[in-house]
Amino acid sequence: MEVPFFRPEIGREEMDEVMAVLRSGWLTTGPRVKRFEEEFGKAVGAPHAVALNSATAALHLAVEALGLQPGDAVLVPTMTFAATAEVVRYLGAHPILVDCDPVTLNLDFGDAREKLRALRSGRLPARIPAGARVVGIIPVHVGGLMLDVRAVEALAAEHGLWVVEDAAHAFPASWRPAPAAAWQRCGEGTSAVSCFSFYANKTITTGEGGMATTSDDALAERMRLMSLHGLSQDAWRRYSGGTKWDYRIQAPGFKYNLTDVAAAIGIHQLARAEELRIRRERIAARLSEELSDVEELDLPPSPPDRIHSWHLFPIRLRLDRLAIDRNAFIDELKAAGVGCSVHWRPLHLHPYYEETFGWRPQDLPTATAVWERLVSLPIFPAMGEPEIAHVADTVRELCRVHRRAAASAAS
Ligand SMILES: Cc1ncc(COP(=O)(O)O)c(C=O)c1O
Repeated sequence: MEVPFFRPEIGREEMDEVMAVLRSGWLTTGPRVKRFEEEFGKAVGAPHAVALNSATAALHLAVEALGLQPGDAVLVPTMTFAATAEVVRYLGAHPILVDCDPVTLNLDFGDAREKLRALRSGRLPARIPAGARVVGIIPVHVGGLMLDVRAVEALAAEHGLWVVEDAAHAFPASWRPAPAAAWQRCGEGTSAVSCFSFYANKTITTGEGGMATTSDDALAERMRLMSLHGLSQDAWRRYSGGTKWDYRIQAPGFKYNLTDVAAAIGIHQLARAEELRIRRERIAARLSEELSDVEELDLPPSPPDRIHSWHLFPIRLRLDRLAIDRNAFIDELKAAGVGCSVHWRPLHLHPYYEETFGWRPQDLPTATAVWERLVSLPIFPAMGEPEIAHVADTVRELCRVHRRAAASAAS
């Protein structure tokens, strides 16, 4: 049996809506995008939602709208995808990489404070000027498990930082600050901007796409303006509804708008988002149950104060109990028909960040150690029971076959 790492689930409604757009004569940003923005804003409880062609675009527009300047510094987790840090570089600013929690893989607030202290005292190992002004933080909700939002708020308040959430994995996801408190959705929080991804394998997809949500009118206005060449009004408004053909260039903007073809898919994915999330949650529960007694593994946590989007199911191999390394484990999984991936090689172990800033493996020791153990197993709503069983059986069998003799004797 072959189980892919991911298989998108596109329903009849998505297909019919795309066909309706294709027949309508209006393919680019228009009424479907407007509807998608309104419905997504309602779904996360945000007054403004700006639809874009990627989460990377959302992150870029967010830091631009917040006024990030060349030479500024921003706290960025090292355990993330390229996009989170590259947008800081787009504006000539410095990402200060922060280590991760070994279990959740989310940002380690103790290390964030340590990195700030080290920068102030000129002890930061990276080549970032000691006088660099730290203006913001871009936390990531890794795999869709929200990090402790209170801890982000406390750190931001202490150091006067803005917060841009990289919520690429975190829709729909929520957290609860106390057992009796109300659930708070990712996107309605106190961060300046939350940036969601609708890339092909995300929890809801538009093929490629993203959304920036905010409750700040000025940030929303700036991001909207900069998303389309800095023009005073977009094409749909110019060619429809009696508005004028004329426009003014207000700023040298970007070309980040979402198309109506993509939004047509998004509208119906959004309507099914909770149903899709529940199916992922059930698969995560099944995998956790099947693998709970495999002593060579650590499984992803599922704390009761989080509603997890389950974009990823990252297991951590206990390499001390296995006579095989992670890469060989993945090769064997693939040979047995189980697609998998790794999220991620941390940023400080990529040539660009090593060479530009001089980060060394020991500067972010938890991420350096944990990434060698990471394997993301398949998890997608359309995964059937035989596929779940095949993934669990294959992982269990590989652990049995490669169990270290000494460890099995001790256990
Ligand atoms: C944590 C994180 N941030 C940002 C992105 C970028 O998303 P997009 O592909 O929509 O630009 C990704 C993509 O996988 C991601 O995993």
